[in-house]
Amino acid sequence: ANRPPAPSDSAGRTIRTVGVIGAGLMGAGIASANVKRGLPTRITDSNPEGLRKGMATALETAAFAKDKGGPDPARIPALAALLSPVAGLDGFADADLVIEAVVENVEVKAGLLRQVESVLRPEAILASNTSTISISRLAEGLENPARFCGIHFFSPVHRMQLVEVIRGRRTSDETVLTAVAYAKRLGKLPVVVNDSPGFLVNRLLLPYMIEALEVLLEGAGISQVDRALREFGMPMGPLTLYDVVGIDTACYAGSVMHAAFPDRMNDSALLAEMLRAGRLGQKTGKGFYRYENGSLKGVEDPDLEPLLAPLRTGNRGFTHEEIVARLMLPMVLEATRVLEEGVVRSPFDVDAGMVLGTGFPPFRGGVCFWADTVGAGKLLEQLRPLAERSRRYQPTPALEEMARSGRGFYARYAGRKTAQEVSSS
Ligand code: NAI
Repeated sequence: ANRPPAPSDSAGRTIRTVGVIGAGLMGAGIASANVKRGLPTRITDSNPEGLRKGMATALETAAFAKDKGGPDPARIPALAALLSPVAGLDGFADADLVIEAVVENVEVKAGLLRQVESVLRPEAILASNTSTISISRLAEGLENPARFCGIHFFSPVHRMQLVEVIRGRRTSDETVLTAVAYAKRLGKLPVVVNDSPGFLVNRLLLPYMIEALEVLLEGAGISQVDRALREFGMPMGPLTLYDVVGIDTACYAGSVMHAAFPDRMNDSALLAEMLRAGRLGQKTGKGFYRYENGSLKGVEDPDLEPLLAPLRTGNRGFTHEEIVARLMLPMVLEATRVLEEGVVRSPFDVDAGMVLGTGFPPFRGGVCFWADTVGAGKLLEQLRPLAERSRRYQPTPALEEMARSGRGFYARYAGRKTAQEVSSS
């Protein structure tokens, strides 16, 4: 009753109370980020035990103190006062923003969003943390789709600075601006992305990940592929990343992208075989590597060879430079597409997304910046011998134009404002 009126300027609405639906890995992480920044947060989960655990995790993470190497008990009471469990969606009636982070299932999410919309105040906004479902699709059942958007956090939430704010077809500017301001308030860097499959980060990462499997099947070694990309500056190699993410999750993400872009994002037979063999990655103790006695450091596993052998397409040696080039090229091509399609505004958005969302080496400047340092002409030369093999390597008109004009990504799209500049102007 004592709430000051929210300013209705172009900076979006001020968020004073947040609701989180789902207290699993992501819901707990989002709740934690809120209370850490002093935002009163209500959280619910259909599983009471999950809710209890999620709240405990959220508080411990928010109370983490570097000098103590763990949660600081002295910080807990103030944080706990900001986090309250609610039994049902009615508990969100006074929230300014509700973020849904339940299982990745269209029907479950759409049903919940409709239900929570019916209890929200008219000026409150609603968001989903989905990583693969179309925001426009989730908006279909809503009374007021203008107030709905995606707010896509990355895992682990407390370490990943990037947040993709997804604008659905009917999302209003005010909703986008509110979500951007909210993400900044949490100390995150928001990138505004127009709704499209894989949003920004997964759309660019998938071609890179798919290519790692291709060079493996052509004869490169497992640790060699990982070593090449670590030397390039990646925090971990792509095959280790598969094991960390989980082969089941990777297969699912792969099938979503395959459905959207069948000409260039192929479904991997190797991942499907690994799934069948129960090699799901670190969580089952074996994936591309074997993890002994719960160790997170993988060793090469001869048992993988029988799965690899029938799928091999070659047996030649690769240099590290060649491996890096092969994995970067499809990602650079995809970067030209997201910019031409207007999925994001500027090469800066692409680069911020890849550096902060995937650990793309900061000293390389990001995918577009790196491509500009190599030069479009040189990239085209590398693509040409590959282009007849698959659509994956087909140069895009934008890249060809960059090579002809000598104007790279940053020159070609100069003058397009970044999400940061738009939100603060
Ligand atoms: P999770 O399985 O850890 O947590 C999901 C939680 O939702 C569970 O606690 C479950 O009890 C609860 N839940 C299920 N149905 C519910 C309902 N009807 N009402 C209330 N609570 C319900 O899953 P996770 O990993 O936290 O993922 C949540 C969402 O975040 C998914 O949409 C996922 O795609 C997305 N996401 C996941 C990332 C990851 O790395 N795990 C990264 C970015 C987004």
